[in-house]
Amino acid sequence: MHALRGVSFTVPRGELVALKGRSGSGKTTLLNLVGGLDAPDGGKITVDGLELAGLGESGLLELRRDRVGFIFQSFGLIPILTAAENVGVPLRLKKTDPRAREERVALLLALVGLADHAEQRPGELSGGQQQRVAIARALANRPAL
Ligand SMILES: Nc1ncnc2c1ncn2[C@@H]1O[C@H](COP(=O)(O)OP(=O)(O)O)[C@@H](O)[C@H]1O
Ligand SMILES: [Mg+2]
Repeated sequence: MHALRGVSFTVPRGELVALKGRSGSGKTTLLNLVGGLDAPDGGKITVDGLELAGLGESGLLELRRDRVGFIFQSFGLIPILTAAENVGVPLRLKKTDPRAREERVALLLALVGLADHAEQRPGELSGGQQQRVAIARALANRPAL
């Protein structure tokens, strides 16, 4: 399956970009490549000044943790964690000081309008609310992309 062919583009810092195309046209594949979740058979991908091919597993892990925020189509929240704990996961992975972590989580939940739902688990939130938790989580470590 040749999922992507002849794709070439640059996204300037701060730009808001929408990627459009019918289902099966390769949008998810492209995002998985840019986010370091998948590896291309050819070509070159640079994110935030880093060329992905040279990173290796631990470099890709750091890329996903620090530089790219991902909002998955099906959210990917951890069911047994509360909204606040879900948003805090990337901060824990980065070993952020607990106090700074709690402040950041509170700010992010307020930003997405869920300050009053911090202690609810994903199953106790509506679909749209779960998506907002996923957005807050994606922003936790102030990713470049
Ligand atoms: N795991 C996979 N194995 C083989 N082909 C796949 C896989 N995932 C997606 N594809 C195929 O790659 C193409 C692009 O898929 P995808 O990137 O998911 O499209 P989009 O997100 O634009 O709907 C589609 O033709 C799809 O069938
Ligand atoms: Mg898709």
